[in-house]
Amino acid sequence: QDSIYKEKNRPQFHFTSRRGWINDPNGMIYFEGEYHLFYQHNPYEREWENMTWGHAVSKDMIHWEELPSALLPDELGTMFSGSTVIDYNNTAGYNKGKTPAMLAFYTAFTENKQIQCMAYSLDKGRTWTKYNQNPLIDSKEKWNSVDTRDPRVFWYKPGNHWVMVLNERDGHSIYNSKNLKDWTFESHTTGFWECPDLFELPIDGDKNKTKWVMLGASNTYMIGSFDGKKFTPEAGKYMNVKGTLYAAQTFTNIPEADGRRIQMGWGRVNHPEMPFNGMMLLPTELTLRTTKDGVRMFSEPIKEAGQLFEKVNEWSSLTSGTANDKLKEYKGADQLRIKTTIKLSHATSAGLNLFGQRILDYDMNWNTVNGTFYSPEEMTSMEITADIYIDRTSIEVFVDKGAFSYSMERKPNKQNNEGLHFWGNNIEVKNLEVYNVKSIW
Ligand code: FRU
Repeated sequence: QDSIYKEKNRPQFHFTSRRGWINDPNGMIYFEGEYHLFYQHNPYEREWENMTWGHAVSKDMIHWEELPSALLPDELGTMFSGSTVIDYNNTAGYNKGKTPAMLAFYTAFTENKQIQCMAYSLDKGRTWTKYNQNPLIDSKEKWNSVDTRDPRVFWYKPGNHWVMVLNERDGHSIYNSKNLKDWTFESHTTGFWECPDLFELPIDGDKNKTKWVMLGASNTYMIGSFDGKKFTPEAGKYMNVKGTLYAAQTFTNIPEADGRRIQMGWGRVNHPEMPFNGMMLLPTELTLRTTKDGVRMFSEPIKEAGQLFEKVNEWSSLTSGTANDKLKEYKGADQLRIKTTIKLSHATSAGLNLFGQRILDYDMNWNTVNGTFYSPEEMTSMEITADIYIDRTSIEVFVDKGAFSYSMERKPNKQNNEGLHFWGNNIEVKNLEVYNVKSIW
């Protein structure tokens, strides 16, 4: 594309805006061949302020084209996070002939309250008209709830009605509607904060065996059931993603034939000296799989990401010493993908560093990966696999096929002579693959 995307600290395979601050992804939806990403954007400055819905479109969720802003601040407030739907049945009455309306649900923010509002578009999200009777919901009046935001709306097919999950009070509330305008409170789940998501997933790929998953902003989740009005959790909260990822959301309206549940989140990463700040992390597919601890959620980069990486080297059965020799060549690389499986023997902990920064730190004694409790499926094998994505300012790591994942800021200034470096006594690097990266810009 153009020179704007060539700056020194610009991520090369993650979405960033040309200019200004970004945080949460909003209203991610597939519609007629296009994936839409809206996002919290300050188009004027690198700091959080003037919240506006930015807009980008893509054909594959990997290559993005930034479009003009979608929702601008108005007399009701600035534009906080939310979601979009396509109104195929014209329940709100905005459809024009065969063109179904795209509707956006967002929070209008002022210092004294946060209210839920709606807007519609008849031209694939390019231009928007705000509903003339906003707000739809004012929970300050009802609950005296101040932090009430981030409406997540979807169609609940079995009940033939719309559902909104809304962050209010100390968790996520469920509202119902027939026409997207009048909403009734139904139930509340405590224990979450901001940016709700709620969806159904098959277990181990079996469409006849499903469960519902409720998520909060830090990607903690509960597994349970949902009847359109009430989410009933089966147990407490779990966590499978940590680090810079925040306020992730899943795409709505992915065709049934595809059927994937695809998530993308904000990478809380600083871009010093750049005209922009913040980024989106790689889109991942979410799945429920049966593990030795019960059903858990996995998160792995979508297959479309594969096109970005070209394998340039592969070795097996190395000592850490030989592996480190092989990696010397990639010492200066600021974009790279590395896949590796390491096997521990006498050591209780082992891992991989990049210029002293711990990309992978597996401790078999405490059962932790990078400080978080993690017990692999096959404890007896003493192995761990990591798929690592390095992109200038960020590092994402997917452990054991996405059973656990985390992301961190890459610190390019924290250099020493080590470069990429395995550590741990007597470890075997069973497999080591290095991939070059193609830029998306
Ligand atoms: C999460 C969040 C949302 C809010 C938005 C404002 O990062 O605090 O709850 O809608 O950011 O930018």
